[in-house]
Amino acid sequence: MTRHRVNDNDRPAEAPEIIDTEALLGLKDRKKAGKGQGATPPGPTRAAVILPWERAETTGDHARLAEARLEEAVGLAASIGLVVVHSAIVPLRARRPSTLLGSGQLETQGEALEANEVEVAILDATLSPVQQRNLERAWGCKVIDRTGLILDIFGERAATREGTLQVELAHLEYQRSRLVRSWTHLERQRGGFGFLGGPGETQIEADRRLILDRIVRLKKELEQVRRTRGLHRSARRRVPFPVVALVGYTNAGKSTLFNALTGAEVAARDQLFATLDPTMRGLRLPSGRRAILSDTVGFISELPTELVAAFRATLEEVSEADVILHVRDAAHPDSAAQRADVIAVLDGMVRDGTLDEDWPLRSIEVLNKADLLGGVSEVETRGGSIAVSAITGEGLRALQDAMDRRIAAGMETAGYDIPPADGARLAWLYAHGEVIGRQDKDETIHVTVRLLPADRARFERPDFSGKDH
Ligand code: GTP
Repeated sequence: MTRHRVNDNDRPAEAPEIIDTEALLGLKDRKKAGKGQGATPPGPTRAAVILPWERAETTGDHARLAEARLEEAVGLAASIGLVVVHSAIVPLRARRPSTLLGSGQLETQGEALEANEVEVAILDATLSPVQQRNLERAWGCKVIDRTGLILDIFGERAATREGTLQVELAHLEYQRSRLVRSWTHLERQRGGFGFLGGPGETQIEADRRLILDRIVRLKKELEQVRRTRGLHRSARRRVPFPVVALVGYTNAGKSTLFNALTGAEVAARDQLFATLDPTMRGLRLPSGRRAILSDTVGFISELPTELVAAFRATLEEVSEADVILHVRDAAHPDSAAQRADVIAVLDGMVRDGTLDEDWPLRSIEVLNKADLLGGVSEVETRGGSIAVSAITGEGLRALQDAMDRRIAAGMETAGYDIPPADGARLAWLYAHGEVIGRQDKDETIHVTVRLLPADRARFERPDFSGKDH
């Protein structure tokens, strides 16, 4: 398959079949190299994160918000394997159309990038293609903006077919808007612009057509996948244990909590997105019940609206979950607004039919980082929320008990008459439910059992034998 490449001088003469959006962003080679077999492993990519900050105040709450925002962006960059060697908040007095930053800042940051041998600079802002190109020229390194970075993260984390399609669609829409917007007279005369590595007019037209064709095809495919979504969901629902999904803002401590609860030896942050499928793991609750803990991609502040659908698609596990743990950074200056954002996104999923409306009944709010606030007892909890420190482990037992209770609360009681010869079905009930009563009669065994609704539906299917589960 022929593919586009960033800065590829010998572009294929023929139009490629597929636009490789990751290659367009220039991130593909790094990822491929990381996973490659046999090739000399290149060193990790050195990156910088620069936050242009428009709010005038540089002290107090605003400064803390800027710091938190920078920390978030650094975390995001690290999560796709970039090594952040420089980060800075740059006060922005006016947005310069050519480079966004002022000339003094351009120079100061340029020096820092050079001194730190930075290969990729991430501007935590929205850049026009012209700004992106000018910055790349001025700094002599690859420059990506916030949307580009987020798309890359979503691309790595989309697990389902629908998720992958949705992310690819967002990627292409992003490309398309940039192709159209940057198509100025000046661009035409110069015969190219940075994002696609300097193609001429016909190449841009060809790219545009290809992107549009691909968008049309993707939309059709998405439509198809959505129509059969119910089917896929029930197939996935075969996981033999209750599923607990972690949601929350990036940096809230989901991975740390995931590891603390499962005892997993995976690095909390750096490898989160790099490892192949680190997002599901088994755990045993105090009752002895087993469950599956599923991590999701973190919420990101001020998510560009065109990425909302793609983001939701990465949250599909949440639809399947028996319990949703909403992990919050209780010490974050924006903690309340973050909470509202998470709830708004989940409510949006209810509106588009991907999440049941009773999700709040299945969710537990986890107030993490209690250690930063003086310990669990110092954190104000409301409405069943639970304060914990994923780092010190304080509060984790209470959280596990709450998970146990929540799973049990979602269970329904059912009674079945099972022939004694049908050992497999009987064993299945013991393995998946809580048998609370049993009467052995001559011809049948009557079992009273508490089961999750999905398990109950599975057990009651006419073709269910208990053997293949
Ligand atoms: P994403 O993977 O980006 O979505 O973030 P995450 O929510 O998984 O957060 P992660 O577990 O990577 O933690 C983010 C940062 O918060 C790390 O530096 C952790 O060490 C820190 N952290 C997590 N839990 C706690 C905690 O209970 N207390 C303190 N003080 N720091 C914590």
